Amino acid sequence: MIEKGVRIKEPKGKLGVLLVGQGAVSTTFIAGVEAIRRGLGQPIGSLTQMGTIRLGKRTEGRVPRIKDFVPLAELDDLVFGTWDIFPDDAYEAALKAGVLERELIEKLKGPLKKIKPMKAVFDRQYVKKLSGPNVKTGVNKYELAQQLMEEISEFKAKNGCTRLVMIWCASTEVYMKPETAHQSLAAFEQAMKDNSPSISPSMIYAYAALQLGIPFANGAPNLTVDIPALIELAHERGVPIAGKDFKTGQTLMKTIIAPGLKARLLGLRGWYSTNILGNRDGEVLDDPESFKTKEESKLSVLEYILQPQVYPQLYQDFTHVVRINYYPPRGDNKEGWDNIDIFGWLGYPMQIKINFLCRDSILAAPIVLDLVLFLDLAQRCGMRGIQEWLSFYFKSPMTAPGLYPEHDLFIQLMKLKNTLRHLRGEELITHLGLEYYD
Ligand SMILES: NC(=O)c1ccc[n+]([C@@H]2O[C@H](COP(=O)([O-])OP(=O)(O)OC[C@H]3O[C@@H](n4cnc5c(N)ncnc54)[C@H](O)[C@@H]3O)[C@@H](O)[C@H]2O)c1
Repeated sequence: MIEKGVRIKEPKGKLGVLLVGQGAVSTTFIAGVEAIRRGLGQPIGSLTQMGTIRLGKRTEGRVPRIKDFVPLAELDDLVFGTWDIFPDDAYEAALKAGVLERELIEKLKGPLKKIKPMKAVFDRQYVKKLSGPNVKTGVNKYELAQQLMEEISEFKAKNGCTRLVMIWCASTEVYMKPETAHQSLAAFEQAMKDNSPSISPSMIYAYAALQLGIPFANGAPNLTVDIPALIELAHERGVPIAGKDFKTGQTLMKTIIAPGLKARLLGLRGWYSTNILGNRDGEVLDDPESFKTKEESKLSVLEYILQPQVYPQLYQDFTHVVRINYYPPRGDNKEGWDNIDIFGWLGYPMQIKINFLCRDSILAAPIVLDLVLFLDLAQRCGMRGIQEWLSFYFKSPMTAPGLYPEHDLFIQLMKLKNTLRHLRGEELITHLGLEYYD
């Protein structure tokens, strides 16, 4: 019998999850997985754990859970490793992050205490608001990458992992544009040896991961792996990569609402978004250079969804403003306000106001889990380079050169599910449906 779909290696053995940064997102993710394993919580928000996928015709009634449809690693097979500039173990870091309740964290104290962050590759030039003692030293950036690679290999052996995945959950670095040093792998490696400022710490981690054949996702808006040199390396080593910037909070709302406005051809005059945020991420983003990286990532979304060039009467020249204000009393519980000025029939104006009392890391944790499991799946399927089907999870999805990113959450979800159908040799779903009426 001819097998349909793609040959997928079984997810046998432990999957090591390497998290750069052990802050609010990482600890909420790790503690969450530990809690779910113990039956202390549900994986709400995670497509891999709770999502289903329709197969074949609507009349067939085939709707398996995604985790039963494609072979994913089990939560019990995940092992965690982290890096941070602060030496606190994951228990202390989770308490400091202030996202989860102390009562839950106490129940998970045993496993969390065991996770101690490895020394970070860090340079204040790239994250101006932070400094910490748990940092590596080396003669140059190339040597730091070698240190990371040795450490990763030791982690893998010590924990008996068969596979690894790395996710950047560390602070947002300053805004950088692609430069000459990023254009080829050879130039990139030379720049590392020359200690060039073009190479940020996040790029050093990504380089180390890709060299070792480890899938890499970037949860922050930094340039990191979104440069020709590292895309080249991903292809050379046969490694899947994805980014940038987890799609949570206000931008998630934007990519839910904007496609709806466009679908009904309602015009937009302006969208004003402001936030107050009191966690360490908010503090880092209080630096204009780190904020610039975030702002770029947040602003592009509406332009791409609304396509002003295709619908000039509706979307040309709308004003889009995004602000993040650091306000410590609020901690990780961000509050976002959106004022949306729209117009309808004959140009009559209307307004939409959104007040989102959101918990950023609660929205980010299931994204980290899904990315870990899907990147590992992609690796086992032999997929390499940019994984556009994972755009669903990102504010600034990486795409092939010359291709504009797809930001519409619903198109992204369709793309993701069709990719899974494709991997399994199932018919892609077009939603045409005329056959039901023949
Ligand atoms: N929903 C969300 O929370 C969300 C959404 C999108 C993007 N992000 C991004 O994810 C990242 C993590 O968010 P967070 O709320 O956990 O922030 P956080 O400040 O709580 O944690 C980040 C951690 O990274 C550490 N760090 C900084 N540079 C490092 C380096 N070079 N190596 C190792 N560790 C380093 C910091 O010490 C800190 O502990 C941020 O860049 C944030 O912008 C978060």
